Amino acid sequence: MNRKTRITLDKDFTIGKIDDKIFSSFVELLGRCVYGGIYEPGHPMADEKGFRLDVLKFTKDLNLTLNRFPGGNFVSSYRWEDGVGPKSKRPKRPELAWQCIEPNQFGTNEMVEWSKLNGSGIIMTVNLGTRGIEQALDLLEYCNFPEGSYYSDLRISHGYKEPHNIKYWCLSNEVDGVWQVGQKTGTEYGRLARETSKAMKLLDNTISTILAGSSSPSQATFPAFDADALDEAYDFVDYLSIHQYLSNRENDTRNYVAKTLSTEAYLKSAIATCDFIKAKHRSKKTMMISFDEFNTWDATMAEDRFKNRWQFAPSLLEQVYNMEDAVVLGSMLIVILKHADRVGIACLSELVNSIAHIRTETGGGCWVLPPYYTYLLFSKYGRGISLLPVIDSPKYDSVQYTDVPFVDAAATIDEGNCLSIFAINRDVDNSIPVEVLLRGFGQYRVKEHIVLESENPKDTNTKENPNNVVPHSNGNAFMDGDVVYAELPRLSWNVIRLEKMK
Ligand code: AHR
Repeated sequence: MNRKTRITLDKDFTIGKIDDKIFSSFVELLGRCVYGGIYEPGHPMADEKGFRLDVLKFTKDLNLTLNRFPGGNFVSSYRWEDGVGPKSKRPKRPELAWQCIEPNQFGTNEMVEWSKLNGSGIIMTVNLGTRGIEQALDLLEYCNFPEGSYYSDLRISHGYKEPHNIKYWCLSNEVDGVWQVGQKTGTEYGRLARETSKAMKLLDNTISTILAGSSSPSQATFPAFDADALDEAYDFVDYLSIHQYLSNRENDTRNYVAKTLSTEAYLKSAIATCDFIKAKHRSKKTMMISFDEFNTWDATMAEDRFKNRWQFAPSLLEQVYNMEDAVVLGSMLIVILKHADRVGIACLSELVNSIAHIRTETGGGCWVLPPYYTYLLFSKYGRGISLLPVIDSPKYDSVQYTDVPFVDAAATIDEGNCLSIFAINRDVDNSIPVEVLLRGFGQYRVKEHIVLESENPKDTNTKENPNNVVPHSNGNAFMDGDVVYAELPRLSWNVIRLEKMK
């Protein structure tokens, strides 16, 4: 078998401008994401407000544009009013989604303050599970109305003179799911979302709203739920959200790394669903996708919430991510870059501890797992214009998938004309030689070939050994004329950075 992969890039063949909002994440009031994660008053590394500066260092480096807050499933029985005002007066409540006790010590204003420190904005999610249009309007008024109304003056009385000016609003979360408090059909939800979005935009016409689409491509109701909801709300919302988590539950790495074929198919179906409704409504608007939860994760872990109910900040959903997860995440990011013309928001789910690559000990240290570096490199170098790669890779069959390309890649060119090629090698046993033909770019040279790889797909980092799996710059990419030659190590995530010669 010819094992070589050939990739062609042409300066004039582009997918589109990459929206900075695809570099976003998700902070849910879940487990130890917030409490014992980004916020832990009294911790030796916490500032006077309780924000952990050791965690902040890792989150800041990711250069995130937005963080979705406060859920997730959490939002569907959340009363936002519980989380504002004097902390001593905030109620503790049993929280239904994660079966915890929510002390409400970290709410809207704490999220705004932490976001400022982190250099990111917020996607606020409103509760259309137990609540409705009125509470969504109240929260918007509290956040964005300048002054002189009940809720804006309440915000000012809480010490926030300037409005928070939150621009992106999710209209609830995973309403298609049987686990959701307030599950609805697509039509029921679409109708409520449409009216909520309409009212919210009457109060603040600068906001964008996100319709909650299917929670997974494996939902039996996908894509009918999305089509029904869009049919009601198409002209009133700006994005359709989709979610996906991939896992190696079967412990079959070859098949696991192929699962991103389903990500590509999911995204294409979601886009097709939007375009079907666009055509049906004779609409001029093209709906953008908000891929506002994606990651690798074995979602059956969610059942753990029933084991020790009504705890404060228990360890929940703390999957230990490894090298193979780092490659699968890279593959998901490649799919997103290849659809940069339609994905306007993408949130890595989540940021700290729960389903996350940044890990802490409550009262102790902080370290990062291998996929952290996959995302860090993507965020650092994946900006600008997404180029259209034509890829000819050898293929294999896995248990669930046929014709799986061993190599997948995306490429970007930034404002400074730096070219970045992001590539995965799915082959668990062998490295693969790659040739990248550059057409029409002028003269370039290899600046760096960064590789994330490890001996064993299950290798990871721990508190004791935090640098076991870290990227190195010893990749062997070189250029001869217009062609980049490189060997992609087995099961690896690669970033080949090219700079223009003067
Ligand atoms: O990220 C954990 C949960 O997964 C979110 O709360 C929910 O939206 C999804 O099912």
